[in-house]
Amino acid sequence: MAHDTLSNAQMRDIAALIHPYTNPAAHGRTGAHMIESGEGVFVTDGDGKRYVEGMAGLWCCGLGFGDGELIAAAQEQLARLPYYHLFGGRTHEPAIELAERLKDLFPEPMGKVFYGSSGSEANDTQVKLIWYMNNALGRPEKKKIVSRKRGYHGVTLATASLTGLPLNHGSFDLPFDFVRHTRCPHHWREAHAGETEREFSARLAAELDAMIEAEGPETVAAFIAEPVMGAGGVIVPPEGYFAAIQPVLDRHDVALIADEVICGFGRTGNWFGTETMGMRPASASFAKQMTGGYVPLSAVAVNPAMAEAIEAEASRHPALGHGFTYGGHPLGCAVGVAAIDIYRRRDIVGHVRRIAPLFQQRLREAADHPLVGEARGIGLIGGLELSPDPARAATFAAPGKVGARLAQELLDHGVILRAIGDTLAFCPPMIITEDEVEMIFAPMQAALDATHAWAKAEGHLG
Ligand SMILES: Cc1ncc(COP(=O)(O)O)c(C=O)c1O
Repeated sequence: MAHDTLSNAQMRDIAALIHPYTNPAAHGRTGAHMIESGEGVFVTDGDGKRYVEGMAGLWCCGLGFGDGELIAAAQEQLARLPYYHLFGGRTHEPAIELAERLKDLFPEPMGKVFYGSSGSEANDTQVKLIWYMNNALGRPEKKKIVSRKRGYHGVTLATASLTGLPLNHGSFDLPFDFVRHTRCPHHWREAHAGETEREFSARLAAELDAMIEAEGPETVAAFIAEPVMGAGGVIVPPEGYFAAIQPVLDRHDVALIADEVICGFGRTGNWFGTETMGMRPASASFAKQMTGGYVPLSAVAVNPAMAEAIEAEASRHPALGHGFTYGGHPLGCAVGVAAIDIYRRRDIVGHVRRIAPLFQQRLREAADHPLVGEARGIGLIGGLELSPDPARAATFAAPGKVGARLAQELLDHGVILRAIGDTLAFCPPMIITEDEVEMIFAPMQAALDATHAWAKAEGHLG
């Protein structure tokens, strides 16, 4: 699009905003895509065109857009108490209620909850609390955290370091050296020829064991993992993965941190990815669907032993020296309580289980296309990885271009999905109906064909 075709709003946007995860040079040419309203699984743009929001925004609007109950809960809370904090021993009812619900719902016994406003703040807090606890326990050397390549844990200095993606490190002087990245648990890409998923899981566990041994177990504090990797390209771990990893962590007294920021609250067909993947975490991070994405809020839950050690240490200081102005914001907590009540009352987890087979089947049908390397997913999350030579799991010489083209083709057909490199990510609102699932996949063949033809013409297929 030439510059003189940009609207006034697009010109103002270019002049005023630095956009996250956006290429500024390209953005300056094409201008922003204005989204004006949303209803159910649909959003409408500035030209009045309606789209199926196949990503639930950024993996967060599990109840879709315009949910009357969430809006009413927010309005009531704004009218009653629009702001208060939890510093210095203050509290409010929504913060207590939401913490109680999280403790009740989470499959592992959790002692206490600490709030932030974003997934990054939650995982940053995880790092700080683990360090704080290990100082309290008299093991100040035990501070390293193991993460996985392609894991996504946020963008603050500490959490971008945990994130195992080069884009989040380059030119930022990251990662910090308390982090070690271990192999991505992606069977299609990383397994040896003929290696079963279980064998691959055993190898990953052995590699983790060797890494911890080489670092010195007395220096390794925690292992952080998403139950299913999201922003790194939607990677479902191989069979038996966490069952193989857990004994390694236990042997070296390394805490497992579950990053439930995407998987939490029904996405994988259980309340938490922890259940779906059989994890036994010592602590967990929640955000996104906790409030249906309507209000920024995150939470960290720690098990009773961690809570006790942290509070004992904080009691030796004048106070716990950590806290965010908006952590536990009453608006977020009230909407979080309402969202959990809706998930329960409308049986959203049951709905995800009922609709997931159709969604996964339609996703996997796309795998027959010559441009598709792998179709993968679980529950209502999926990934379609493109490849110039699927049989060899080859990657494109110019990564990201073909994926972006497919996302654009689908956008033209009225479907919003996100290209993560050359993997198309799917994460529709959990309220999606069968007909709406069909709306996502109906244009897939045509979009893949058009992208294939374009990729061939542009020389991306080698
Ligand atoms: C698993 C996971 N953890 C943490 C984050 C960071 O959350 P935020 O963007 O709210 O800081 C994300 C964001 O996508 C995520 O997917």
